[in-house]
Amino acid sequence: MNWQSFLDTFHNRRSGITEEIFIRSSDQDGLNPYQWVEKATPKRGDHLDLCCGSAPLFIDSAELSVVRLDRSTGELSRAHDRGADGLVNGDALSLPLKSGAFSSVTISMALMLIQPMHQVIGEVARIMRQDGYLNIVLPGGGPFLGFHDLRIYRKIAKYGGENTLSFPNGRGVRTIRDEAAKVGLAESMDDRHTFQFIAKSKLDAELFVDSLYLRELPDLEGDRKVKDKIIDEILKKGTMKIPLRMLGFRKVSFPV
Ligand SMILES: C[S@@+](CC[C@H](N)C(=O)[O-])C[C@H]1O[C@@H](n2cnc3c(N)ncnc32)[C@H](O)[C@@H]1O
Repeated sequence: MNWQSFLDTFHNRRSGITEEIFIRSSDQDGLNPYQWVEKATPKRGDHLDLCCGSAPLFIDSAELSVVRLDRSTGELSRAHDRGADGLVNGDALSLPLKSGAFSSVTISMALMLIQPMHQVIGEVARIMRQDGYLNIVLPGGGPFLGFHDLRIYRKIAKYGGENTLSFPNGRGVRTIRDEAAKVGLAESMDDRHTFQFIAKSKLDAELFVDSLYLRELPDLEGDRKVKDKIIDEILKKGTMKIPLRMLGFRKVSFPV
């Protein structure tokens, strides 16, 4: 199964799982990752939440007109159930949206997944207005984890049959910068935040493991005893660090 089919199956089966993890997580100021993103986004204008998932972002932003696009019908149906509007079923590789229509765009926890990445960035630049803002949220990576968290992440990766948890585009920050510059997007921000996911129950701890894109679909399931041990370890620890990185870009005239 290729990554895109895996993602489609995963998000239709486990719709809303990213939100379930992020709303149980907070930084030292008590903000969850979505509140961090909203703080960094213009409060007015025409916004595209690309790969919106269950639509956790900008639900209460009255002055922002939001289009929410995803290719998972499962995620969109959860978004619809919560009353989110502006929902579009579409693909980030070929946006069914007018050129120059958006003053801001968010891509939260998705650009590391979709290939070819340069095509997504090209599409985003096309639908952005001159001077528009783009915020991209990505996993922040291992160096920002302590020893104990890193050890548990490694065990989860091993349970999923990998040495480390990885994504099709890696975290691709250098490539993102290069590809963005080619289409007139100049970097305006590079921020890092570490959030603590709080596991209050076995269910929370299992949700955390399940959210990490392990190849756990039918016929691919790992050893249940190994998973149970990891779940117990997370529960005993009580929290797991989630390091995130937010890159910001501004659409400018060429050359960047
Ligand atoms: C990790 S989730 C993030 C969801 C949401 N942005 C959040 O932060 O909670 C990744 C999302 O990307 C969507 N996705 C994956 N590939 C896509 C594609 N080619 N076009 C549009 N959406 C895609 C998935 O369906 C999923 O909802």
